[in-house]
Amino acid sequence: MTSECYPLVKTGGLADVAGALPLALQPLGVDTKVLLPAYPGVRDQLTGARKLATLPDLFGGPGGLVSGTTADGLHVLLVDAPHLFARKTGGPYLGPDGLDWPDNHLRFAALSWVGAQIALGEVGTWRPDVVHLHDWQTALTAAYLHTAKAPAPPSLLTIHNLAFQGVFPMALADTLRLPKTAFDYDGLEYWGNLSFLKAGVQWCDRLTTVSPTYAREILTHDQGMGFDGLLRARANTLTGIVNGIDEAVWNPATDPYLASPYSARRLPSKAFDKAALQVELGLHVRTDVPLFCVISRLTTQKGLDLLLDAMPALHARGAQLAVLGNGDAAIQDEFMRLAETHPGQVATTIGYHEPLSHRFQAGADAIIVPSRFEPCGLTQLYGLRYGTLPVVARVGGLADTVIDANEAALRDGVATGFQFSPVDAVQLGMAIDRACTLFADTLAWQRVQKRAMTREVGWGIAAGAYLDQYERLISRR
Ligand code: ADP
Ligand code: GLC
Repeated sequence: MTSECYPLVKTGGLADVAGALPLALQPLGVDTKVLLPAYPGVRDQLTGARKLATLPDLFGGPGGLVSGTTADGLHVLLVDAPHLFARKTGGPYLGPDGLDWPDNHLRFAALSWVGAQIALGEVGTWRPDVVHLHDWQTALTAAYLHTAKAPAPPSLLTIHNLAFQGVFPMALADTLRLPKTAFDYDGLEYWGNLSFLKAGVQWCDRLTTVSPTYAREILTHDQGMGFDGLLRARANTLTGIVNGIDEAVWNPATDPYLASPYSARRLPSKAFDKAALQVELGLHVRTDVPLFCVISRLTTQKGLDLLLDAMPALHARGAQLAVLGNGDAAIQDEFMRLAETHPGQVATTIGYHEPLSHRFQAGADAIIVPSRFEPCGLTQLYGLRYGTLPVVARVGGLADTVIDANEAALRDGVATGFQFSPVDAVQLGMAIDRACTLFADTLAWQRVQKRAMTREVGWGIAAGAYLDQYERLISRR
């Protein structure tokens, strides 16, 4: 169950995972169905879409359950509730004013409630052996299953980002179709409010998050974001599994968005993508300076204010920067201003552009991910696959997926990028400087690129690890 799923609807990495993991599980013999809201345009992307059930009272209006299949063969179930999801403007979470939809508690309670009804055999004819929840938007399912009278299948919650907790005023409790006891201290109650995520953390049979390092970090007071006590109490059910990437979508040899396909064996062709991107963005067409890129939500999490402060290090080496992102207005403005004051050297694109993000990955030499915290991170994995060396903060999944090009790692041929710690502008500047120095040594840079491109980043390992979780849950019953 998920609130977004590539290619149907995407705002970030959750969609990539929700779209790719079920496909990776299929060859392992797992029959999956992905339940998500019928946002505008989603149903039209499915083949064989048909209504499975009518749901007359779906938190304020009539709705239904629709099933269909994506072009990739993903089996999808949609919660069709026009009063909650069919909005002409805005996105999955935010209205056109950039603020949360005021009825998000009802929207995601409805999604969670339908999931629970399917799992309990009350809606449709298919019942899952395991219910897999992703993030707070589906976590309330755990509360519906926990308080149900009928026996419920086991459940697993994957936490993609502990910063998003689905917190609402306790006064809304009456609207959620749960018994009063569900809002006690050992239920949804969360520092005086109620939290959807807490239902999942409290009542799911197992918990996972998207990297081993993040799994350790969230048990600490500093990074537990208010949940560390509860997570420590459930630590024996918590596992960190690093995300994979969809290698059919992210493959420089077959990527339809690129000017020139390439691979580890045909690395020189990447230069055409660099030149094409420089032309597209109005940067000086130069091969002799490194082109760094950023593809990101522009929020405090992602640490891009640190990059603004570290720009002197980048300018000092004559390097170029291309930014693609959207988010906080203040950060957007700063990067726009940077591009205006450094024409030909810095280019900023504000907005969300899937094809352009592929051309960034192919055309840039390195990708900067200076996150203050990062549960897994996918753009550094795409960077590895595209030979676009990641420059990353040593936190969460970034720490687990990039091997720093220090002297020993270079000598042993295992380096795949650059890490910095502590996460501040000085250390980021030094990492950028190290990247520029390595870039100047073409052969050494290419060795690291080839190593990065051949590193295993697909879903194979993670899909096996999730299957292991499912099997443990089933065998316990
Ligand atoms: P998060 O989910 O925290 O935003 P991830 O690194 O896990 O971070 O995933 C981000 C995903 O969103 C990646 O697929 C990335 O390419 C994509 N993305 C982020 N910003 C943009 C943008 N402005 N345009 C296109 N794709 C973007
Ligand atoms: C979240 C995290 C990100 C992770 C993604 C997919 O959005 O912020 O680190 O890669 O989920 O798991």
